[in-house]
Amino acid sequence: MNKLEKIKKDNINSHIPIIMDDTLEKIYEVIGDRKLNKILEIGTAQGYSAICFSKMINENGIIDTIERNEENIAKAKENIKTMQLEKKINIIEGDAVEILPNLNEKYDMVFIDAAKGKYPFFLEQSLRLTDEGAVIFADNILYKGYVLSDYNKHKQRTAVNNLRKYIKEVQENTNLKTEILDIGDGLAISKKIIS
Ligand SMILES: C[S@@+](CC[C@H](N)C(=O)[O-])C[C@H]1O[C@@H](n2cnc3c(N)ncnc32)[C@H](O)[C@@H]1O
Repeated sequence: MNKLEKIKKDNINSHIPIIMDDTLEKIYEVIGDRKLNKILEIGTAQGYSAICFSKMINENGIIDTIERNEENIAKAKENIKTMQLEKKINIIEGDAVEILPNLNEKYDMVFIDAAKGKYPFFLEQSLRLTDEGAVIFADNILYKGYVLSDYNKHKQRTAVNNLRKYIKEVQENTNLKTEILDIGDGLAISKKIIS
């Protein structure tokens, strides 16, 4: 087993909800041969997806990844060190709701994979932090099938309603070309066609 497979296995054994294989493959397919300069990830967990994304960046490329859980941050740092990716993956520690408004860079790709109730806010910030040509991915967008069903139970209602709001906003935004795919736990792919 190589180092990356071990990190993945450890995450699965610890019940860390990491990116699913088919979601990851789809992202690789969408980005294709492009080598990106900057990726923004919202929700690092223990660094598994950021480590996988490192193959999509160019020699001087950087992945900024935001995480608020201290235990996950410590483990992510360890995993990133094991993979010798400290110069490419930059963990921004804290709550993305507070951090995002203070970022002022432009990213070629954003991967949204954190608190589902905040997806519309994460979208608003992702739109501010990207230009034409960038791709915004939102994982878990169909959330166990609840989002496109008539699910209305109290538990998870806020999360489900905000995921529905995210879908509506990306579909109505004429600056974006969006696909909602039923792979993994649902993946929204929004290409920015106009800045
Ligand atoms: C689904 S996991 C991320 C999995 C990771 N992207 C991967 O595939 O390896 C979601 C992570 O987002 C973090 N998170 C949730 N809401 C957040 C917020 N508002 N700010 C920062 N981190 C957040 C959680 O602590 C958790 O570690």
